[in-house]
Amino acid sequence: MSYFIGIDLGTSAVKLLMMDETGALMRSVSREYPLSLPKPGWSEQRPEDWWDAVMSGLAALTEGFDKAQVKGISFGGQMHGLVMLDEHDEVIRPAILWNDGRSAKQCDYLNGEIGVKTLSANTANIAFAGFTAPKILWVRENEPENFARARKIMLPKDYIAYRLTGVLSTDYSDASGMLLLDVEHKRWSKPMLDICGITEDMLPKLFESYEVTGTLKSDVAKALGLSPETKVIAGAGDNAAAAIGTGTVRNGQCNLSLGTSGTVFIAQDRFSVDAHNALHSFAHANGKYHLMGCMLSAASCNKWWLEDILGTNDYSGSQKNLRATGENRVFFLPYLMGERSPHNDPNVRGMFFGLSMATTRDDMTLAVLEGVAFGLRDSIEVARAQGMRIDRSTVCGGGARSPLWCEILANVLNLQVVTLKKEEGPALGGAALAAIGCGAFADAYDAAEKIVETDRVYDPTPEIAARYEERYQTFRKLYPAIKGLA
Ligand code: XUL
Repeated sequence: MSYFIGIDLGTSAVKLLMMDETGALMRSVSREYPLSLPKPGWSEQRPEDWWDAVMSGLAALTEGFDKAQVKGISFGGQMHGLVMLDEHDEVIRPAILWNDGRSAKQCDYLNGEIGVKTLSANTANIAFAGFTAPKILWVRENEPENFARARKIMLPKDYIAYRLTGVLSTDYSDASGMLLLDVEHKRWSKPMLDICGITEDMLPKLFESYEVTGTLKSDVAKALGLSPETKVIAGAGDNAAAAIGTGTVRNGQCNLSLGTSGTVFIAQDRFSVDAHNALHSFAHANGKYHLMGCMLSAASCNKWWLEDILGTNDYSGSQKNLRATGENRVFFLPYLMGERSPHNDPNVRGMFFGLSMATTRDDMTLAVLEGVAFGLRDSIEVARAQGMRIDRSTVCGGGARSPLWCEILANVLNLQVVTLKKEEGPALGGAALAAIGCGAFADAYDAAEKIVETDRVYDPTPEIAARYEERYQTFRKLYPAIKGLA
């Protein structure tokens, strides 16, 4: 018996999962940590909190199992976060996360003065506020003493890997979101490093997601009771890891994720970039590429609405009386942290529209779920406009546990939505990458066969989809109407 561990370093918590070499789940645990929002649009976390949560989670995950059989550990990590270490490997400042919007000015400089053509030619992408390079520029301009102390720059999961192994490594999928990688050729982009004022020796060594980067440091292995031979595998950004965990590995396959963020992930065998860089063009964890649209607030909108505004934790109760008929007159714009895809507008804010004296709390709750679905539809539309046919998608993340939300997605996106029996997308993908790295699975295609099992299938209902189509056409007009006002 061999065990493989996947660590999903998320925004609200780290989720850890252990599976055996047949793909059967042994156990999963999670540990929460705080998210700090020190100013509107800012979003930070302490890397030390991640580390403590990972260590405590690993201990709980392996407790009672034969620890000598843990062969490999890998990751799906929240993407784009900026972690900076000094010459003593101390964390310099809290990590600036993927949904942080402070770098609007630096994005304007990159997209405007450097120019989207140059950025796209060098990295296959343009600047979005959450990406790592604009945040490096922000630190350089606003905290020059911190910038001067920086010796190592890495992504969130790479900080954990570094502390586990002592090897500074990253993988192509996660590195794609830094705006420092030449995605097509899978190498750091010298022009981009120059623009940011950093050097290649500050950055992690690049690996494919399924490659072994090192083994556990002896003190870490001892603290956890694991073998120092335990391999650590590069892992992936959480969306690429989720794609492995949901079997989104073949050309054109699509996965939707409804976590803190909401993403549309489309696997691509060949590298490509759309004319307006509206979708991210990133490397995939299967060794190939993918296109992705990312909205900054997805399941987090529902969490905000229920917990912070209505003061309830009763998620299923809140949906009991709701029906996805396409007749709701209330709209919700899900821009609580600004928006990435496709608007690239860190300053826009959320909104309810269409309220009347007849509006009920249920209408507003439904509008939140529908607004997130309309936001995802914006990204699907970009892909469809390029001639991609997307008529089926898996869905993962906390939101996928709501049958109502899945029904809404099927009708708003007008495609078949499929939930999976093992719905721990990024953690499962991480464990699968560990199994590939250790030779237990041949590759991502083999992993998909071993771990992916369909649970429920949601088909659109033509008359409901038609009503949602009409409502989507109204939703599309709302962002241009409020652009620049918040
Ligand atoms: C993707 C993105 C988010 C985070 C969430 O570009 O920013 O999906 O990875 O953890």
